[in-house]
Amino acid sequence: MTPVLSVQHLNKVYKDGQQALRDINLDVAKGEILALLGPNGAGKTTLISIICGIVNATSGRVRVGGFDSVTQFRQARSLIGLVPQELTTDTFETPKGSLNFSRGLFGLPPDPGKVEQVLRDLSLWDKKDNRIMTLSGGMKRRLLIAKALVHEPKVLFLDEPTAGVDVALRQDMWQMVAQLREQGVTVVLTTHYIEEAEAIADRVGVISCGKLLLVEDKYKLMASMGQKQLQVDLKTPLTELPVTLAELGFSLQNHGQQLLLGYRRDDENIAVGAMLSAIHQAGVEVADIHTVQSSLEEIFIELLQESP
Ligand SMILES: Nc1ncnc2c1ncn2[C@@H]1O[C@H](COP(=O)(O)OP(=O)(O)O)[C@@H](O)[C@H]1O
Ligand SMILES: [Mg+2]
Repeated sequence: MTPVLSVQHLNKVYKDGQQALRDINLDVAKGEILALLGPNGAGKTTLISIICGIVNATSGRVRVGGFDSVTQFRQARSLIGLVPQELTTDTFETPKGSLNFSRGLFGLPPDPGKVEQVLRDLSLWDKKDNRIMTLSGGMKRRLLIAKALVHEPKVLFLDEPTAGVDVALRQDMWQMVAQLREQGVTVVLTTHYIEEAEAIADRVGVISCGKLLLVEDKYKLMASMGQKQLQVDLKTPLTELPVTLAELGFSLQNHGQQLLLGYRRDDENIAVGAMLSAIHQAGVEVADIHTVQSSLEEIFIELLQESP
């Protein structure tokens, strides 16, 4: 199947010599949801900006719906919706006016029905005639999404859509992405949050220092990268780790006050209940237990150490 988005050998060196992207290759299938995970400065916004034609690539090419993003810019751009990372909205305009204008930018005829539907979908219909500057941050973000959707794009880019938004809006966003996928829209989003990728993505790409380290099916990636840690606080500190616990992989931390066991999330041999009875059998008294999941940062560090 031909990909709806194809990125080939993309490089970007900014004027100051900063290399933001290094030989990025990426194909995205129609209707797929791809999450790009990466720390600040990894190159996520640069990649999206080049695909959308806002920033020029130093070398390489991008095709959207088969159209070259440089030589066939208008055709390529008409298939794309972009919700930028930064909140930028015209302050005196109204949501309705702003959406009409966005359609016009793409050379589309006015369509009050479509504008109404998009505003309703994003719970902005009540505010359609209010000045944008009077809207809350969450509403402004919804409006940016509405603006990106009003010309009915085939590929929607969401650059850190939930950075700094409240839980309710985050849930709405995830639901909206699921609905768009049902309509056959392809979604590429960037995020810091592994749980966000976990909640909505089909595939996950990990980008760091301008390199796309891997692109992998979500479930495979989570299983292979996600680490869990069992932490057991002890009633009385141990001076020595019992051999039976050492054999199970436990280590002793915090001056003997805590037992730790790290394991892969997909490791079916780890049963927390069995671990606790092993601790009990070793005669160790437990004060409290927690399980901790490795953070995205820890996963990145692990990945970066593995990458050549
Ligand atoms: N306009 C610019 N000029 C020079 N360097 C830039 C510019 N925009 C981004 N960069 C640099 O490129 C790298 C990637 O940035 P960016 O694409 O914004 O990453 P991300 O979105 O993953 O945080 C960073 O080192 C950043 O400082
Ligand atoms: Mg960014």
